[in-house]
Amino acid sequence: MCGIVGAVATRPVAEILLEGLRRLEYRGYDSAGMALCSEGEISRLRRAGKVQALADGLAELPQQGTTGIAHTRWATHGKPTETNAHPHMSGESLAIVHNGIIENYEPLREMLKSQGYIFGSETDTEVVAHLLDHLLKTGITLIEALKQAITQLEGAYALGVIHADQPDQLLAARKGSPLVVGVGIGENFIASDQLALLPVTDRFMFLEEGDIAQITTTQIHIFDRQGTPVERSISQFEHGQAAAEKGEFKHFMLKEIYEQPEVMKRVLEGRISNGHLLEQAWGVTASDVFDRTERVQIVACGTSYHAGMIARYWIESLVGIPCQVEVASEFRYRDVVLSKDTLLITLSQSGETADTLAALREVKERVLASLAICNVPGSSLVRESELALMTNAGPEIGVASTKAFTSQLVALLMTTLILARRKGLDGAKEQQIVKELQALPALIDSLLEMDTAVAKMSEAFAEKHHSLFLGRGSLYPVAMEGALKLKEISYIHAEAYPAGELKHGPLALVDKDMPVVAVAPNNEMLDKLKSNLQEVRARGGELFVFTGCGQSIQNEQGVTTLTLPPVHPLLEPLAYTIPLQLLSYHVAVLKGTDVDQPRNLAKSVTVE
Ligand code: G6P
Repeated sequence: MCGIVGAVATRPVAEILLEGLRRLEYRGYDSAGMALCSEGEISRLRRAGKVQALADGLAELPQQGTTGIAHTRWATHGKPTETNAHPHMSGESLAIVHNGIIENYEPLREMLKSQGYIFGSETDTEVVAHLLDHLLKTGITLIEALKQAITQLEGAYALGVIHADQPDQLLAARKGSPLVVGVGIGENFIASDQLALLPVTDRFMFLEEGDIAQITTTQIHIFDRQGTPVERSISQFEHGQAAAEKGEFKHFMLKEIYEQPEVMKRVLEGRISNGHLLEQAWGVTASDVFDRTERVQIVACGTSYHAGMIARYWIESLVGIPCQVEVASEFRYRDVVLSKDTLLITLSQSGETADTLAALREVKERVLASLAICNVPGSSLVRESELALMTNAGPEIGVASTKAFTSQLVALLMTTLILARRKGLDGAKEQQIVKELQALPALIDSLLEMDTAVAKMSEAFAEKHHSLFLGRGSLYPVAMEGALKLKEISYIHAEAYPAGELKHGPLALVDKDMPVVAVAPNNEMLDKLKSNLQEVRARGGELFVFTGCGQSIQNEQGVTTLTLPPVHPLLEPLAYTIPLQLLSYHVAVLKGTDVDQPRNLAKSVTVE
């Protein structure tokens, strides 16, 4: 994970780098550091803990440094201490920051030790600093040294490099970890994510796998993995500055929950004509691929995996073809049997999740085609997939995914409809479902009005240590997502079960200290679910039920119900997700946890 940012300018860059780190903290916040080049010397400051700890000490760095690199860490090799924090240096003159994992760092470290290098940290990164220095000793230039060094590196990296002898130059390289070049006027930048640089530029170059960049205040030279000079196009950032700021909201997560009505519009925008979906939105070869699709394999991690699980219900019932869903970290290492009529759908808000990306690379030659459903247009997953559908949710900063998830669901339902067309879904039915999708912003607005009632409900959870979430059918993955949200940000142990499984184990856990949440729309599964809820009541468990109009679950001692407005059955998973997002948010606020940056987690998991 980790976030890196770098700048080469004619003005002091410390504050620019610091603001960049604040915006990258979602990628990790175990430690932070910065190195600045000033008057032929490199000065470095590192602190364990959050970026604020670095900010508090910033006066210790020379204020006039105009070239610099900075880093916020999510520890992989070595504890989150100051000595393991980046930037790492070789001698007094060379400093680097790194995001990724150098898999062959051990033999490299042994080789470098035999050359007399002394290692000050436990990180894999430090080998890159010493390797560069070792290569520089052969008399080559810094850019040549970087070109040679990366041929010796195995694993994933995004690197930023500065050297005291060349204070007007910032070098960068990427393979397997994201890195953008921010193009300014008389100054240029690098960062793990465009968001970091929005205060200084809205123009970006996306480096491709194996690219190296040599950057000065006025020039950006890019070399591909063969070392050949190449041009990379410049694109404009599409979302406004406000997307990366909290505004009136106390937390990014709450802001992002409230953005969902707007996001629902954006996923549909430009993709509907006369009530029908435009399949060109999926890519130039989409029609041909969808014509030949006879089965679907979905691969994803975390919250995105839950979106995939919901899509399976839609695809199998509306399209009538088999759909498998699996977490990428398992899928990539299994002897998966795939056929040439399989559409592989990878789901990822970031488009950089290491396991999902690896799964795509592993099987893409063995399937009909790959479709990425993703929120980041220039991401690796999008670039490496044949088809792509952007979810257009805008930047999501809160580590717990909310709007990215619901936008994925809309994209998946749209994809389901496109596939269902081939299997006889008639035009009128498609139009009717599209109409329901277009009504989602209003529906979500009305669901957000439940906020106060959900906040009241959350009081019953704040002192608890465990909870159970139940659902049936396509609401079972919604229960899983509700449980994941609660555990991520409130640290309350939360487990989800398909309600019918209750009596096969989890019922043993139920007592008055185990609140049980049920997502129970008024559908054909409700009667079954009600029996399951009786089993909980009979054991003294306290129930919190989100349900639909016209059902007969009553508020009574030990049962709290909240009624949702009427929802089309296909959209129930989307609708019932919203109050569960609010529930976990309010419980976390009551518990006083770090809502946007929960402990031990990161937004974008670019390591295995
Ligand atoms: C991390 C994030 C989750 C996310 C998961 C998959 O765990 O904290 O919110 O669901 O990664 O990320 P992706 O970018 O592939 O959707």
